[in-house]
Amino acid sequence: MSTEAPPQQTAAEPLLSVRHVSKHFGPVVAVDDVSLDIHPHEVVGLIGDNGAGKSTFLSLLTGFYRSDSGEFLYKGKPVTITSPRTSRHQLGIEMIYQNLRLAPDLTVWENLFLGEERRLAGFIADRRGMRTRAAEVLRQLNTKIRPSELLGNLSGGEQQAVAIGRALLFERDIILMDEPTAAISVAKVEDVLRLVKELKEYGKTVIIVSHRLEDILDVADRIVVFYQGSTRHVVRNEGLTISDLVHMMFGSETHPYKQANGAPAAQAPAPVEPSAEEA
Ligand SMILES: Nc1ncnc2c1ncn2[C@@H]1O[C@H](COP(=O)(O)OP(=O)(O)OP(=O)(O)O)[C@@H](O)[C@H]1O
Ligand SMILES: [Mg+2]
Repeated sequence: MSTEAPPQQTAAEPLLSVRHVSKHFGPVVAVDDVSLDIHPHEVVGLIGDNGAGKSTFLSLLTGFYRSDSGEFLYKGKPVTITSPRTSRHQLGIEMIYQNLRLAPDLTVWENLFLGEERRLAGFIADRRGMRTRAAEVLRQLNTKIRPSELLGNLSGGEQQAVAIGRALLFERDIILMDEPTAAISVAKVEDVLRLVKELKEYGKTVIIVSHRLEDILDVADRIVVFYQGSTRHVVRNEGLTISDLVHMMFGSETHPYKQANGAPAAQAPAPVEPSAEEA
């Protein structure tokens, strides 16, 4: 069940197309022949059991891992995602990591510009300009966070707002979020979901992974159900309930892991989160 448009339909041209992409780790097939079109201005929810391949799929989009096979098209043209740098600067993809990878001992505005200083050589000389720009972006996101606040003093949800602010600041088109509401208080979940909706309002595409199915139902336009590395369902988020999603995730007999030869693995290796490698 996929929603691919023929390439000649330019009006609905996908921003990013994934074609038959696979990735294995030794005998474990983490991503298995996945094809998916990602459109501008949409929120795509990725769900699936533990080990279904969601994080690995995102890591292929960020260039943290290279795919074994398959191809990516960006605005209809084939691209090779060779590194986080190509993903970020050529394809406009920004990943918001679970551990956020921000610097708690720097200010909010310094964090907003972190790692991008070289691209902004003219800008960087002007610290006041950066603070002003940071304040604008934080206002755009409807937060009350002050640019001069130390990042470490902010709540988890507020820190996510800063991470998301970078996507606006550097005009990324596609924002990837892996479990953004897993490690924050329930009160802050609402704030993060609101930010996702705001990013969409600003014309961004968001791909969000979550085990909190109610969050996915709240924000997603389309829902992709991963199962043993494959996209088992791709559905519009219309009239769905949590139990529909659970059924799509676990509806038939399940093996938690699958090996390259198709046999279930007795013991799968623990998933490894992308580390602090930087572009
Ligand atoms: N670096 C790695 N080395 C070896 N195996 C890995 C690595 N990363 C992921 N895997 C394996 O690939 C499969 C998919 O893992 P992945 O982390 O992508 O799943 P997930 O859907 O994100 O799961 P979760 O919901 O638990 O985060 C799992 O079997 C996992 O053990
Ligand atoms: Mg994961």
